[in-house]
Amino acid sequence: PRIAVLASGRGSNLQAILDAIADGKLDAEVVGVFSDKPDCEALLRVPEAKRWSRDAADYATRADFDADLADAVAAAHPDWIVCAGYMRILGDGFVARFAGRTLNIHPSLLPKHRGLRTHARALKAGDVEHGASVHFVVPELDAGAVVAQAVVPVLEGDSADDLAQRVLAREHPLLLATLRLAVAGRLAERDGRAWLDGH
Ligand code: GRF
Repeated sequence: PRIAVLASGRGSNLQAILDAIADGKLDAEVVGVFSDKPDCEALLRVPEAKRWSRDAADYATRADFDADLADAVAAAHPDWIVCAGYMRILGDGFVARFAGRTLNIHPSLLPKHRGLRTHARALKAGDVEHGASVHFVVPELDAGAVVAQAVVPVLEGDSADDLAQRVLAREHPLLLATLRLAVAGRLAERDGRAWLDGH
């Protein structure tokens, strides 16, 4: 199975995918890394031939950028599209084109804390637990069907960075577990829900 990865930053989730494939722990191929940040670290984790990036600021509209991104992703013929630290909202056109096969990893226990700065917000809210969610991507931000979550405790004296680190350590195995199901054909989205083996 072919996986396209969308990323904007460091790319540690992407690296976890690449390492799992190299170790024979994920039966898939990363066919391309697509980014809205041409100088991001994530791109450097794959050979040049697999990199696509455009600066969104060079586009007149959000829809124009989205259309180019969607064409580039489609040209790589992915079975699954994974947003792994992709920080730009995907437009309706993109989402519709790859509906039911686009996953995102989000650093909160959805439906809590959609959007940005989730770790600081979890602390501010006084949450006693926090974590990460893998979910199907729908047009509304971080609102699609949740596939799986990993939970961590919030400890006394935690900073947002402490929490981010604790969550990230759980993101990588969570994403891999989900992708194993996806590439094995065991995961689907129907009626706004995530289904495992049709149930
Ligand atoms: C992760 O915490 C991810 O959940 C969030 O941004 C971070 C990206 O980390 N959306 P990386 O780029 O995969 O290292």
